[in-house]
Amino acid sequence: MKIVCIGGGPAGLYFALLMKKLGRERGAEHDIRVVERNKPYDTFGWGVVFSDATMDNMREWDRETADAIEASFAHWDDIELQFKGRTIRSGGHGFVGIGRKKLLNILQARCEALGVQLVFETEADSDADYPEADLVIASDGINSKIRTQHAAVFKPDIVSRPNRFIWLGTQKLYEPFTFIFEKTEHGWFQAHIYKFDDSTSTFIVECPEHVWKAHGLDSASPDESVAFCERLFASNLQGERLMTNARHLRGSAWINFQRVKCEQWSLFNGKSHVVLMGDAVHTAHFAIGSGTKLALEDAIELTRQFKEQGDTADPIPAVLARYQALRAIDVIRLQNAAWNAMEWFEVCGERYCDQLEPEQFMYSMLTRSQRISHENLRLRDKGWLDGFEQWFGERTAATAAWGSTPVPPMFTPYTVRSVTVKNRVVVSPMAQYCCVDGLPGEFHLVHLGARALGGAGMVVAEMTCTSPDARITPGCPGLWNDAQRDAWQRIVAFVHRETDAKIAIQIGHAGPKASTNEPWAGDGADRPLAQGNWPIVAPSALPYRAEGGQMPREMTGVDMDRVRDDFVRATRYAAQAGFDWLELHCAHGYLLSSYISPLTNRRSDKFGGSLANRLRYPLEVFAAVRQVWPENLPISVRISAHDWVDGGITPGEAVEVARAFKAAGADMIDCSSGQVSAEQKPTYGRMYQTPFADRIRNEAGIATIAVGAISEADHVNSIISAGRADLCAVARPHLANPAWTLTEAARIGYTGIAWPKQYFSGKAQMEAIFQRERAARE
Ligand SMILES: Cc1cc2nc3c(=O)[nH]c(=O)nc-3n(C[C@H](O)[C@H](O)[C@H](O)COP(=O)(O)OP(=O)(O)OC[C@H]3O[C@@H](n4cnc5c(N)ncnc54)[C@H](O)[C@@H]3O)c2cc1C
Ligand SMILES: Cc1cc2nc3c(=O)[nH]c(=O)nc-3n(C[C@H](O)[C@H](O)[C@H](O)COP(=O)(O)O)c2cc1C
Repeated sequence: MKIVCIGGGPAGLYFALLMKKLGRERGAEHDIRVVERNKPYDTFGWGVVFSDATMDNMREWDRETADAIEASFAHWDDIELQFKGRTIRSGGHGFVGIGRKKLLNILQARCEALGVQLVFETEADSDADYPEADLVIASDGINSKIRTQHAAVFKPDIVSRPNRFIWLGTQKLYEPFTFIFEKTEHGWFQAHIYKFDDSTSTFIVECPEHVWKAHGLDSASPDESVAFCERLFASNLQGERLMTNARHLRGSAWINFQRVKCEQWSLFNGKSHVVLMGDAVHTAHFAIGSGTKLALEDAIELTRQFKEQGDTADPIPAVLARYQALRAIDVIRLQNAAWNAMEWFEVCGERYCDQLEPEQFMYSMLTRSQRISHENLRLRDKGWLDGFEQWFGERTAATAAWGSTPVPPMFTPYTVRSVTVKNRVVVSPMAQYCCVDGLPGEFHLVHLGARALGGAGMVVAEMTCTSPDARITPGCPGLWNDAQRDAWQRIVAFVHRETDAKIAIQIGHAGPKASTNEPWAGDGADRPLAQGNWPIVAPSALPYRAEGGQMPREMTGVDMDRVRDDFVRATRYAAQAGFDWLELHCAHGYLLSSYISPLTNRRSDKFGGSLANRLRYPLEVFAAVRQVWPENLPISVRISAHDWVDGGITPGEAVEVARAFKAAGADMIDCSSGQVSAEQKPTYGRMYQTPFADRIRNEAGIATIAVGAISEADHVNSIISAGRADLCAVARPHLANPAWTLTEAARIGYTGIAWPKQYFSGKAQMEAIFQRERAARE
């Protein structure tokens, strides 16, 4: 086979040598050429990092290359943060660093030894210039000409990110992987620093575009930029110089990261098969240092596919299709993690640097990709995590009931106004649709009672409606009469008498989503009642479902006053029933939510139009409710922080919504999303709404509740520790297991949690079972 690799970076060189070797092993000598525009010892950048796992993979495929790399690399375990005058270090992270130049030289030498033809200082203009090749590898890097020439087939999706960075080097040697954050009069800068040989460290400086411009760096020469960075990090550099690799754009200038992904990775140009590899087809931000790893693993996978295909007559099309199918999965996973890590560095100046103390800032930084959890950190460096938990516990009223070991953050108490919730788990409100005339009955006593006994800090009763016509379904509970108040009071009294959990009530009005079926009745949830339907109201005459939805009547001023007063009445009843906490339901497309979203509010009066106008009525209701709710008790507001529809509420606007409720006196924002439009396209995944809680907490400066696919203690510990939220609401897991919190405590080996006295004899047994399971895994 004749193969031409356009571009002699890690991808092109490594694939060339692996295929050459494979051919030899098979007794079929492939004719392989690498065409590279640069000279052999000429490259941009300084050092690259990859993981121990990548090295294992390389060792399996070509021991000689792996040995040569291993002989030259710097290995380190520690990550160090220098921030606000503090230095914090944690271990067990396991990286390998090597100079990019050294890596390329090793690959070049190995290519030559195996008989790959290396052609330097030659620009390849097109894959069509190599008609004799059976296979052209487009390994021509991030600005791939070949990808651009065939953009109609490859369909690249390229996103340019807002931060600016410059890739510098220094002869100061940094033993750990070091992050330094420095504040200037215009904002924060960060440096990512790692040693890659005995005399040099990579030193990447990054900042947001507006900070970069404010310092005039957009018009600075490379030398001026270096001088600026030397001044900025002078106290750390202590006289050492920073260096540019000035002949190359990437090495000398401040650039924006480009995230590349492609729909199609290969094509046939009429003469040759052409396939993209490495940065040409995908990029991963340096925040998780995986670009070179991905390039090398692409080369390995394509070689593996040729190996497995054997000597079929025309193996290439099938091989290329499988290469894409397999690699695309790994690449997406890594690009997602890299995206989270990259975003963290993009927003840290606005969101975390000023807000978080160094300990929590370190935790947030270490878990930035959301691939590393609390328990992963414990495995990496138990001592550091113990210290962190100790620090965290001291900031709460956590008692030392748990012997000498610090209390996991999930089990620390949290106080708002006069209410102390014993831990960070909340049973999220969940409609049960089984009331008659809005009266909660035996079912609710058992349902809420069992969950209050199950260890959660607080249970939130389902959306409870402020009037008969405010109900979602005929089975929804209400708080518009004395009988309902008394029925709720019985449940609250049980929870207070038999448990140390708090109990909250969520009050709401279903608005455009009222008068629908119970989920199991008729033609299902969100569909209008076939019988007994009642007229419904909304900010605008827009049905929730375009097809088959019930048309609401646009609310008049009189309607709005009436509904506000209904909220006030329900609040008074809730206080009389003895609830500890009130939640105002402003999410999921129900009445107050439908005022906030521009998708559902098309009013032309002072309650429609701008966000401030759309918030006017929900804030009026909030203010009226706050006035009659006891001063010493908290109110949280549940919002949909993302409508998941173009033109709807975005997470950025949700910060404004939270600010408005905070100014009105809300204590917490419960950060849900969606269900505002039937057209929504949410992206689900573990903890998928937590980024909204994080952003609101740290940008609007108000406490938050995270909710959505939080299903393990490890999730709760990670969220609370990183300061992404103050409480975690857990819904569906509590449907299966009322004692979810007690179970999770036992699962992670936390025995300091109290069980109800009646159930006490189950505690030690459950703990022992989990203890055995953990021991078997170790
Ligand atoms: C600041 C920064 C830090 C990074 N840090 C890391 C890190 O720590 N770890 C990591 O793994 N990765 C890191 N990367 C990414 C890494 O450099 C790339 O992901 C990796 O080099 C991709 O390899 P490649 O072979 O696909 O492309 P490249 O290394 O870009 O190689 C492409 C080659 O093609 C040549 N070429 C391009 N067009 C033509 C043409 N028309 N004719 C002939 N030759 C051509 C180029 O000269 C180049 O040599 C970093 C990147 C940046 C910008
Ligand atoms: C059966 C059921 C009923 C729900 N009812 C309500 C409700 O009354 N009020 C509300 O704000 N959210 C309601 N939700 C949403 C949950 O509170 C929670 O936000 C959502 O299920 C995501 O959390 P999870 O992934 O832990 O289930 C309900 C969810 C379920 C599964």
